[in-house]
Amino acid sequence: MASDGAGDGAMSGASSRLAAASTAAASPGPWPAPSVQLVGVGGYLPPRVVTNHELAARLDTSDAWIRERTGIVQRHLVGPGETAASMGIAAGRAALEAAGIEAGEVDAVILATSTPDQAFPATALRVQAGLGIERGFGFDLSAACSGFIFGLSTAAAFIRAGQVRTALVVGSEVYSRILDWQDRSTCVLFGDGAGAVVLRAGEAGSERGLLSSHLHADGRTGDLLFIDGAVGRPDQPGVLRMNGREVFRHAVTKLSASVDEALAANGLGHADVDWLVPHQANKRIIDAMGKKLALPPERVIVTVDRHANTSAASIPLALNEAVRDGRIRRGDLVLMEALGGGLTWGSALVRM
Ligand code: COA
Repeated sequence: MASDGAGDGAMSGASSRLAAASTAAASPGPWPAPSVQLVGVGGYLPPRVVTNHELAARLDTSDAWIRERTGIVQRHLVGPGETAASMGIAAGRAALEAAGIEAGEVDAVILATSTPDQAFPATALRVQAGLGIERGFGFDLSAACSGFIFGLSTAAAFIRAGQVRTALVVGSEVYSRILDWQDRSTCVLFGDGAGAVVLRAGEAGSERGLLSSHLHADGRTGDLLFIDGAVGRPDQPGVLRMNGREVFRHAVTKLSASVDEALAANGLGHADVDWLVPHQANKRIIDAMGKKLALPPERVIVTVDRHANTSAASIPLALNEAVRDGRIRRGDLVLMEALGGGLTWGSALVRM
């Protein structure tokens, strides 16, 4: 295990590996609830890269249109043998290695995906088995592109409740298999990949860790972005449909409110944020959020140009990149936000 997070996906120091301590400044329950430390991060991208030019060769679109409207230049797409489980295993393994944590220590695997390998067993359990985890529990979580924020928040609740000490939170997606490749308004926007973080119970009252998370959903907006079928609706083809303009409008307003909510909940202001790690759907939405927070562009982690929108995997993949290249360091305040089909949306603040 590395003692300094920079360069290897690890964010843990020895002190963050403590079990719940006996004192806590502020605790929601009668016991001193542990803090929730983010101690490792990992990612996996399939090797096959597809550029805008390749798409333009078989679809009525252009590199210029895609770049200008979305910031996307290329995306990674799975090969025939790859699935949400196989990519989740690779990302999970990298996160555990970064954290210096053995598979046998993991109590829970929570996997966010809209593209599970099977209706059941949960893809989380395929990942659990693939990593050699023989204990604890796991389940899949469906919150579309907000899945990672929902997973982080869910895992943290188990940790704070004392039910879980170590959790692996994974976002893994194969959107290439649910896209209508004739629909230029959606198929150019998405990519495949997986990201994962290891969360661990830490000292109660620690200034580091997940400070808060804020989840929202409004099922009335379900028809703006959806997959039109599943195993329970085999009469539908099961491809992604979206009203892009409306989703864009909701994204900017709802994400703005959500980041304000996270900062206000912690008595923090825009100037306190070191890094914005947004869901990577569209560079224009990302830029709008950076501007709202008055963050210089170099403080906003952007991968959408190379990864496109990898849904629940996009935030952990972006976090993984910025931790491993040494930009995000121990002690930095990281703000994450996402919006996706549902609509679902939310934010989380982490002191690394
Ligand atoms: N290539 C070329 N032209 C395209 C195209 C493509 N890939 N996709 C759509 N167009 C065309 C449309 O047909 C339309 O043509 P028309 O004016 O002749 O009808 C024109 O471009 C404008 O379409 P519009 O949908 O208004 O473009 P836009 O500026 O809203 O950009 C999105 C489209 C999808 C990029 C944008 O709405 C967006 O990013 N929305 C949010 C999507 C998102 O983030 N989803 C995931 C959330 S998790």
